[in-house]
Amino acid sequence: MEKVYVKTFGCQMNVYDSEKIYAFLQDRYLPAAAEDEADLVILNTCSIREKAEQKVYSLLGRLKPLKEEKPDLLIGVGGCVAQQEGERILARAPMVDIVFGTHNIDQLASILEERITSGRRLCRIDEDADRVPTAGAPRAGSRKGPTALLTIMKGCDNFCAYCVVPLVRGREISRSRDEILEEARYLIAHGAKEITLLGQNVNSYREPSTGGGFIDLLESVDALDGLERLRFVTSHPKDFSEGLVHAMAGLPSVCEHIHLPVQAGSDRILAAMRRCYTSGEYLEKVSMLRSLIPEVEITTDIIVGFPGEERADFDRTLSLVDTVGYQNAFSFRFSARPGTAAADLEDPVPHETKRSWLPELQEVQNRITAGKHSSMVGRTVGVLVEGSGRRSNGMLEGRTRNNFIVHFPGSPSMVGCEVDVRILRSRKIHLEGEVVS
Ligand code: SAH
Ligand code: SF4
Ligand code: F3S
Repeated sequence: MEKVYVKTFGCQMNVYDSEKIYAFLQDRYLPAAAEDEADLVILNTCSIREKAEQKVYSLLGRLKPLKEEKPDLLIGVGGCVAQQEGERILARAPMVDIVFGTHNIDQLASILEERITSGRRLCRIDEDADRVPTAGAPRAGSRKGPTALLTIMKGCDNFCAYCVVPLVRGREISRSRDEILEEARYLIAHGAKEITLLGQNVNSYREPSTGGGFIDLLESVDALDGLERLRFVTSHPKDFSEGLVHAMAGLPSVCEHIHLPVQAGSDRILAAMRRCYTSGEYLEKVSMLRSLIPEVEITTDIIVGFPGEERADFDRTLSLVDTVGYQNAFSFRFSARPGTAAADLEDPVPHETKRSWLPELQEVQNRITAGKHSSMVGRTVGVLVEGSGRRSNGMLEGRTRNNFIVHFPGSPSMVGCEVDVRILRSRKIHLEGEVVS
């Protein structure tokens, strides 16, 4: 059988889609371990920031010699850059055979077939779709490790001023509860102990026939036999409700961690970003979380240097970061994305002025993270063992329910188990400890 290699860029939704791409192609292609042993290479792309998009073209450049050496090699480009750029990718990158959009991944086998029989290079992009193309059978034997991703909805209706996601993923559509539960049961039967439910804004999940909301779904998944841990991303702060905090506190499998992207600390900038909440409202939700779920850890995303952001606005972000005390913050320089509302905004604040802000923010966050890490030393925590560390030095790697990454020595037979680990040392990204018997 021929082999396919899928290279994934971007968010967890793309990681999930790549698994589905393998599944949709499994009758024809086995998974390849690397691109140079593949007969078909697929790039599942991300266009969230300009850099992500550039990576795609630079990888395509690196595939050129491979294609020259192996003329039968097929190269496909899917995902968010494909959805946005379409035919332009075929024009710009002559080594690409097919381009397919985010709503077309379930048609991939037939698109490839057409490429082969017609001999023509193809671009197949639907503007939007009334189905979640990620539905479909998981790839046989593909499950590995105790953690799994499960997409519950696609698209986004929020249109934050900076964000390309609504343009490349279309309108919000939820999968049916039955389909989600069936997939969750499959994952659990094949070794998943922890499931992360995925959606750009999970709080707007609506069961298509009953109209049931996200909390109902969370309760149904929590009730499944054999599931130890349940997580979900992403929650939009404007829709993050008290009811959900109660559900998190009350449902035994739901972990004490929430990713709650704040984006900025200044109300003026939040309004310009069209986020529909103020920093005060955000902080109220944080207090509610902390009072109902004492062990909760909070992570966030922040954009620095949105058009018109002044030093005083940025100072509000720094102060909010300090007030919340995030476990971790993913921060990015604003990147103007074609087609978004912010793309054409004038920016009176010079690049030079803003250049130092991102490292400044990261330094503040690193200090907060370091403080949290050192306060864990001496404690004993439950860790779900996810696998052996990247360096095969006898170290295992796992996470606490509240999202601390823990490394410790142990045998690979412990993968998939929850073990008690005493924390001995704190590092920048993770904690180190030893198993207590
Ligand atoms: N649906 C999620 C995340 C979407 S993208 C949410 O609503 O938060 C992940 C992160 O990328 C965003 O939270 C944001 O911080 C960042 N991001 C999105 N567009 C960006 C842009 N144009 N420039 C810089 N960062 C951006
Ligand atoms: Fe983008 Fe906003 Fe939707 Fe998140 S909620 S995906 S940031 S438009
Ligand atoms: Fe990137 Fe698309 Fe995800 S733009 S962040 S891969 S939804």
